[in-house]
Amino acid sequence: MSHTHEALISLQQINHHFGGNHVLQSVNVEFHRGCITTLIGPNGAGKTTLIRVLLGLLKPDSGKVWRQPDLRIGYMPQKLQIDKTFPLTVKRFLETSQCRDTQRLQAALKDVGASALWQQSIHDLSGGEMQRILLARALLRDPELLVLDEPVQGVDINGQLELYSLIERIRDQRGCGVVMVSHDLHLVMAATDHVVCINHHVCCSGHPEHVTNDPAFVELFGQRGAEQLAIYNHNHNHRHTVHGDIVTTHNCEHH
Ligand SMILES: Nc1ncnc2c1ncn2[C@@H]1O[C@H](COP(=O)(O)OP(=O)(O)OP(=O)(O)O)[C@@H](O)[C@H]1O
Ligand SMILES: [Mg+2]
Repeated sequence: MSHTHEALISLQQINHHFGGNHVLQSVNVEFHRGCITTLIGPNGAGKTTLIRVLLGLLKPDSGKVWRQPDLRIGYMPQKLQIDKTFPLTVKRFLETSQCRDTQRLQAALKDVGASALWQQSIHDLSGGEMQRILLARALLRDPELLVLDEPVQGVDINGQLELYSLIERIRDQRGCGVVMVSHDLHLVMAATDHVVCINHHVCCSGHPEHVTNDPAFVELFGQRGAEQLAIYNHNHNHRHTVHGDIVTTHNCEHH
């Protein structure tokens, strides 16, 4: 039996305020094994807040968070502050994941195509190299769900495409679920099964092609953004169903 489509995390009617700012408004969303779900939305829309809720780092004012018991999650945060004065090689940085098994550390580096960086200082890495190292660190937990908050930030266009296809390959090889946050509308399309468009509430969601034709999406990103996005067709032949606001991806298969 395939477990590809099982829900790993389900969020129901999530509301959260910061002071008078109603950041998350009745958000319903599910994340599935084997599925790449991309959260998109403008700055300040509540994407990182939603990520923190799904990870259990932030307790929402109201709503239900269901997580599969003992779910192993690998998390790559949007920002990571590392003290520049503290000497830190890639090897030692990876060891901060609690994993000390050199072979596993090296295998994770190899998975992200960064074997050569093993002894390099973390402070000297390029933007794209740093993102790969953060991804390798998230993989060390052998995650069933990989949660990536803006994994391609600071990376040039080609590097972004490479990272997205790397993430897709990781999903194909491991069969894990992936949740990622992205701003670059068109690049992410090829490597995603399911898009959830957020501006405090879920504006629209579904298969990338479905979402780009949704008036709510066009309103949020403008006609130009929506057209740019539509150019990039996603050739996975998934079906999807959207029940009200609840996003389901039972038929999300990968090859
Ligand atoms: N701990 C906090 N205390 C007060 N306000 C917060 C806190 N965290 C987030 N906010 C506010 O909540 C709103 C949503 O923030 P969030 O970081 O979730 O946005 P985002 O969609 O991830 O944006 P970006 O694309 O810029 O990363 C913002 O207005 C932010 O200022
Ligand atoms: Mg954010």
